[in-house]
Amino acid sequence: MESNQVPFFNPFDPEVHANPYPHYQRMLQAPPLRFSALISAVIVSRYDDVERVLTDFQTFSNHRPQATPFQQLDLTAGAATMLGADPPVHTRLRQLVSRDFTPRRIAAMAPRIKAITDSLLDAVAARGEFEAMADLANQLPVLVIAEMLGIPTQRHREFKAWSNAIIASSAVPPHMPRPPQAVQATAALREFLAAEIERRRHRPGPDLISALIASEQAEVLSPGELLAFLILLLMAGNETTTNLIGNGLLALMRHPQQLARLRNEPALMASAVEEMLRFDSPVQGAIRLARKPANVGGVGIEPGTVVVVMLAAANRDPSRFERPDQFDIARQPNEHLAFGRGIHFCLGAQLARLEGSIVFASVLERFPRLRLTDPSAPLSYRGSLFLRGLAALPLALG
Ligand code: HEM
Repeated sequence: MESNQVPFFNPFDPEVHANPYPHYQRMLQAPPLRFSALISAVIVSRYDDVERVLTDFQTFSNHRPQATPFQQLDLTAGAATMLGADPPVHTRLRQLVSRDFTPRRIAAMAPRIKAITDSLLDAVAARGEFEAMADLANQLPVLVIAEMLGIPTQRHREFKAWSNAIIASSAVPPHMPRPPQAVQATAALREFLAAEIERRRHRPGPDLISALIASEQAEVLSPGELLAFLILLLMAGNETTTNLIGNGLLALMRHPQQLARLRNEPALMASAVEEMLRFDSPVQGAIRLARKPANVGGVGIEPGTVVVVMLAAANRDPSRFERPDQFDIARQPNEHLAFGRGIHFCLGAQLARLEGSIVFASVLERFPRLRLTDPSAPLSYRGSLFLRGLAALPLALG
């Protein structure tokens, strides 16, 4: 239980938000499970315990119909998504798109990702100024996922604004009303995607929306699930990768020796991206609902308990990672949990890794003297409960 006055972990506290890592360190040293009255959930942070929860989907469910404090904005109007479902619904939904995310299909997207990255960096070079979030990280992932889905990329700024408003609403403490901007953004996003689906019904193309419409027509997917699917792919495919790019660039800028090493040894890129994911994870936590009595780290959990697994804390667990607070682009082994584990392991992990490695390689090649504009300036993070991403990252080019 929490101590009387000071909450054990308050993810709504701006100070925790600015730098959660000292709080995770304390969490890792504390007893394995803590109930937080503030978020009405048990918090699990040790690597082995987080892994245990994520891999036991029969006990720890992703289907959390109501009653958790994190569920107040109903993005999908009650329709199932793979992320919010257990087998067999999860299996049916994930199978519909798994062929679109195979390593081969994703690798084939490399030239297109490179071309989009280059055009964004051309604009940066022409201006001579680089705000890495606005100029690059906020744009690339949404452009890539929009192309994959087959939705007009000209409207990507609108998507990003909707998606930001929706994500920011998760930073509103439980039981407070959702901000009206988030409610409006949800309605606008749903309306836009419903119109895109209708357009595709008459003119199918080689895109993911058309493929999902075919599944709907074959009655494998309900109309509500089809819309919910697109919302999930659009949201999951962009906010997270935006934060990999921002957090990863920041880690490189703050560790000049590691940056120099990556410039000299580009073959380390894949391992550098894994270390960025571990060191400052774009998704810091995930939520489950205990369905059966369980035991985690030697402590009992009652059915009906909401369980929050802190992926980013587990990624700094010294019992799993040597010198966990050091940023080491050559770290081996590096079995981080930034993409989750088990049946909900991130569908887009290969895509995110590919986008990350293309972006970091292109930025380093293009701007040999890249550095933080003002290393002592405080950085601000966007509001979100479990997504960790910078509001802005000003970099100097010359
Ligand atoms: C660096 C970027 C990314 C990170 C850190 C990330 C992280 C995660 C995590 C932690 C989960 C598991 C959540 C849970 O178990 O509750 C997840 C699931 C998922 N991710 Fe990602 N993700 C990233 C990029 C992407 C991209 C590019 C897509 C593309 C569409 C995507 C689509 C999904 C989907 C659909 C799921 C649900 C899978 C399922 O429930 O079976 N993600 N992601």
